[in-house]
Amino acid sequence: MAAGGETGPAPTGSRGEAPGAQDPSEALVTCRGLRKSFGDLVAVHDLDLAIAPGESYGLLGPNGAGKTTAISMLCGLVRPDRGAVWIDGQSVGVGRAAGKQALGLVPQQMALYDDLSARENLALLGRLQGLRGRELRRRVDEVLEVVQLADRANDRVATFSGGMQRRTSIAGGLLHRPRLLVLDEPTVGVDPQSRNAILEQVIELGREGTALLYTSHYMEEVERVCDRMGIMDHGHKIAEGTRRELVDSIGSLDRLLIEATGDLDSFADRLRDLAGVEQVDRDDATVTALARNGRSVLPQVIPLAAPLDVELLSVEVDEPDLEQVFLALTGRALRD
Ligand SMILES: Nc1ncnc2c1ncn2[C@@H]1O[C@H](COP(=O)(O)OP(=O)(O)OP(=O)(O)O)[C@@H](O)[C@H]1O
Ligand SMILES: [Mg+2]
Repeated sequence: MAAGGETGPAPTGSRGEAPGAQDPSEALVTCRGLRKSFGDLVAVHDLDLAIAPGESYGLLGPNGAGKTTAISMLCGLVRPDRGAVWIDGQSVGVGRAAGKQALGLVPQQMALYDDLSARENLALLGRLQGLRGRELRRRVDEVLEVVQLADRANDRVATFSGGMQRRTSIAGGLLHRPRLLVLDEPTVGVDPQSRNAILEQVIELGREGTALLYTSHYMEEVERVCDRMGIMDHGHKIAEGTRRELVDSIGSLDRLLIEATGDLDSFADRLRDLAGVEQVDRDDATVTALARNGRSVLPQVIPLAAPLDVELLSVEVDEPDLEQVFLALTGRALRD
């Protein structure tokens, strides 16, 4: 069975709702049990996914994890072996328009014509999306502004850097004002400056209320852009949640690194008594505390110092990152 009924699992909320709603009835996109095999290889195993209106959702996983295959099914470009997708309450399928108006896709493999200018490429994409005449010209100008390429609009794409080509591609995904922008590894092969510009532009779109589905194997990008994320490995979604939820799920503790002078033994003893602190070690000039939520412990640390004549030189909270979550769940590094 490739698809479910014509109507979705539940009606969709309106644009601009608070992000993060995980109740399926609130979802803009719902995937249920999506599976895709290529020969003997199961590229995506029974994937369930829900993205709320305005939510920024990240799919994080190493090369070959199944991110692009999952996205291709979600966008109705690849037919799943089984499972179903609903967008805006409508059943999505290959060769059918239903639900797709809400989507803008920035594919991993860019689809731009080198010999055409950015403006000509966008006009072509806009026409494919059904835009015409004055509205088309206006939207092309607007999206060129969004990706800060207005000054290069008439230059051939062949003369653009990788980053500028990516930004043109992102502009193409925005032409018809999608409620969900799907970005598949939008910063791969891009120089650091362009990468930052792309991330800032994507974050801004999220702030303005566009829901995002962002795939990457760069955990710091997903952390920066996304409210909630799923970690994929070998076609399975092995974990899902906010960064904090994922980090908490592996039981890893935050590390407070405190550089100080004075009676560090007494200071370390007092630290041990604080709620949430699980372990304290000291060496010559540093006290290290392991705590369940380092940021909430931090305000209690500073008042401890003065009565003991301890001078704090620096205090740092080192939180476990998604790299450590991936390592804990799979025994492998995300970037091998
Ligand atoms: N059309 C295809 N034919 C055969 N195998 C495929 C096809 N598309 C994907 N695969 C395989 O499915 C698995 C998942 O690929 P996919 O492109 O979805 O991964 P990905 O997470 O997007 O990886 P990357 O980070 O490298 O883009 C890989 O093993 C890949 O080789
Ligand atoms: Mg991919």
